[in-house]
Amino acid sequence: MDFSLSEKEQKLFERAKEFTREHITPEANELEKRNEFPKEIVQKAYEAGLMNLHIPTEAGGPGLSLLDETFVSEATGYGCAGLATSIMCNNLAFAPLVIGATIEQLKKYVEPLITGKDAKFGAFCLTERGAGSDAGAVATRAVRDGDEYIINGLKCYITSAPQASLFTVFASTQPELKTKGLSVFMIPKGKGVKIGHIENKMGQLNSVQSEVIFEDVRVPKECLVGKEGEGFKIAMKTLDKTRAGIAAIATGVAQRALDEAAKFANIRHQFGQAIGRFQGIGFMLADMGARVAASRLLTRYSAWMADQGMMNSKDSAFAKFFAADSAMQNATDAVQIMGGYGYISEYPAEKLMRDAKLLQIYEGTNQIQRLVSSGIILRESANLDTGFHVKYDGKDAPIM
Ligand code: CAA
Repeated sequence: MDFSLSEKEQKLFERAKEFTREHITPEANELEKRNEFPKEIVQKAYEAGLMNLHIPTEAGGPGLSLLDETFVSEATGYGCAGLATSIMCNNLAFAPLVIGATIEQLKKYVEPLITGKDAKFGAFCLTERGAGSDAGAVATRAVRDGDEYIINGLKCYITSAPQASLFTVFASTQPELKTKGLSVFMIPKGKGVKIGHIENKMGQLNSVQSEVIFEDVRVPKECLVGKEGEGFKIAMKTLDKTRAGIAAIATGVAQRALDEAAKFANIRHQFGQAIGRFQGIGFMLADMGARVAASRLLTRYSAWMADQGMMNSKDSAFAKFFAADSAMQNATDAVQIMGGYGYISEYPAEKLMRDAKLLQIYEGTNQIQRLVSSGIILRESANLDTGFHVKYDGKDAPIM
């Protein structure tokens, strides 16, 4: 078993780290105060080749792996989770199309967005007011009318929607079939597509989420991705992949919290010594380090599984909830170790703590991740023979 990165992977990781040091870390705090989409830095990330990594070469993309994406997300997440979310928003928006669309559809609708001079954006439109964790409860409707579909509905918390040129929209074509009646459409920005309320958030202020309203939007039938009724499975397959990306951002946040706390613990003196020398602080740093290492391994393993074509639902859920919880815990511990310095916004820990919280919520709450993974664990264990059998009168004991 070889845990080292290939030369190509190492170069990509280094390039993303360099970009973070040069552009993200020095500007993230100031940019946050503007509370708007960080267009200039995202444009630089686009020019540096850090966006749209998973688009196949046949559709104009670099055709890189999910594992490659995790290097970029970890490195940019280290600098700012909000900016990392803005830089990787196309990964989520276009993943359902890479999974379910034909190469011809990708060439027509996605290629022009990823090959021009300026960065262009897609938006993943699944969530609605009444369909958050219960993704199958989508009420947006798509009705076939000749060679077109007419789409009506309201989506919320949609990342990068105000900037988007293409909306990947989950809509019901047969509501009575529930999850089996969901379909996915590519909807270019145009007549009937409106941006609604833009959310004010606690953290990740360098990413933008808003409502998107579809009012009698007509699209040609070629905008249907896959077949009618395949939308829910495409959404689930998408999230299996992209949750590794969130876990990677979380690993970056957890690492940054550790680095800032350790640096502080080395230079801050109280009672005549550096505070890191007190076991109470030192043990916290050890736990933080272990969380980072475990998050990174879970993240890379779940991405690697997807790249091998293996079903990774359980492992991407493990990676997502473990890494996001670790990011939150490490950020909270960094604030605690830094005391007053941790709580004020001139120091980095305060922003890390605000940003980390969203990692436990978006792309499926950490409770949903536990639901997904525990369901699989129970299914896997149903026919498991552990070799342990309780016998009553020479027979297997009945299950209570
Ligand atoms: N791959 C393929 N198929 C899958 C699958 C997977 N990973 N998971 C489920 N399915 C299939 C099932 O096999 C089942 O198919 P059959 O009926 O043929 O057997 C079908 O899908 C329905 O599955 P479930 O019965 O498990 O569905 P459910 O309604 O109970 O919901 C859920 C399951 C896991 C809770 C799902 O609703 C879910 O993931 N919810 C969270 C949604 C989410 O993550 N939202 C985040 C939005 S994106 C975002 O936040 C980013 C942003 O921009 C802010």
